[in-house]
Amino acid sequence: MTFLFNSDARRGTIFADAFAQALPEIPFSMDAASVDADAVRYLITWTAPADLARYRNLEILFSIGAGVDQLNLAAIPEHVKVVRMVEDGIVRMMQEYVLLATLALHRNLPAYLDRQRQGVWLSMPQMQAQDRRVGILGLGMLAQAVLDRLKPLGFPLSGWSRSPRELDGVTCHHGAAGLETMLAQTDILVCLLPLTEETRGFLNADLFAKLPQGAALIHTGRGPQLDQSALIEALDSDHLSAAMIDVTDPEPLPADHPLWRHPKIILTPHIASVTQPETAARAVIENIQLHLSGRDPIGLVDRVRGY
Ligand code: NDP
Ligand code: OXD
Repeated sequence: MTFLFNSDARRGTIFADAFAQALPEIPFSMDAASVDADAVRYLITWTAPADLARYRNLEILFSIGAGVDQLNLAAIPEHVKVVRMVEDGIVRMMQEYVLLATLALHRNLPAYLDRQRQGVWLSMPQMQAQDRRVGILGLGMLAQAVLDRLKPLGFPLSGWSRSPRELDGVTCHHGAAGLETMLAQTDILVCLLPLTEETRGFLNADLFAKLPQGAALIHTGRGPQLDQSALIEALDSDHLSAAMIDVTDPEPLPADHPLWRHPKIILTPHIASVTQPETAARAVIENIQLHLSGRDPIGLVDRVRGY
């Protein structure tokens, strides 16, 4: 009953130590070439290896990240449980990033950075937090944690999900009508949706047109959710005021891509949140323990929904 680790060696060493302490009965391997494929019950990886079929007794495929869009779910045998990463480190980093981005957009940082580059000393009127409405697309693990972190700052908060939700201090919307309502009342829109066939190209010209003039975008979902040309058009026409973008299509973004140098965009290279090996190892171990006791692991992916 082997656990096969297929990611970088630094993380692997930390996982190996954690497994040796908590699950010594499960052999841990970082070497796919020498492992006995029939013994592999658990695999952690970012993308599924091309020779996945050789692990005939695989029970759980763990994604090293919170998203699973990089896996071709249809190519993973039905009996294998696919589990996304649900761990405190990812959550804390996403809270920090969206807090940073919300405050940056709220305090007009992209415009001030542009003025700094031009040597222009000029202030702008400052809206107060109670008047700046923040709306999040997605109300899952990360969005809920982000909303908790934003609450003390006084922004009116709302969120949108597929199914109805109730969250303290957050106006929750769902479905197509709920989306229109939320967009019309959102000054800073945050995308924390998983990438699925339904959310591909979701941040497009139609959606931007439904936001109030001067609204801003924070994109921490996945690159293919954003129509990058539509964003640039919305910024150039002043319909949107600014954007902070962590994910692009493609990644890495080519050095000559217009997103890099747009004066109204702050761009980061997919670093909003990164799996932290210490907390991730603990989460995976707890999930194996749940599985061994006959329960579903936390973060079990619904293959039909795709997240
Ligand atoms: P969850 O699965 O916990 O939550 C997803 C949320 O999106 C749910 O509220 C779900 O609705 C909603 N949703 C999904 N599809 C639709 C749809 N078609 N219409 C309306 N709502 C929808 O995901 P997480 O919060 O853990 O993560 C979200 C994403 O963040 C990841 O998939 C990944 O792509 C991205 N991410 C980015 C990182 C970065 O560094 N930039 C790091 C980590 C993650 P419902 O509640 O009804 O199911
Ligand atoms: C993730 C990511 O999905 O880093 O965890 O984007």
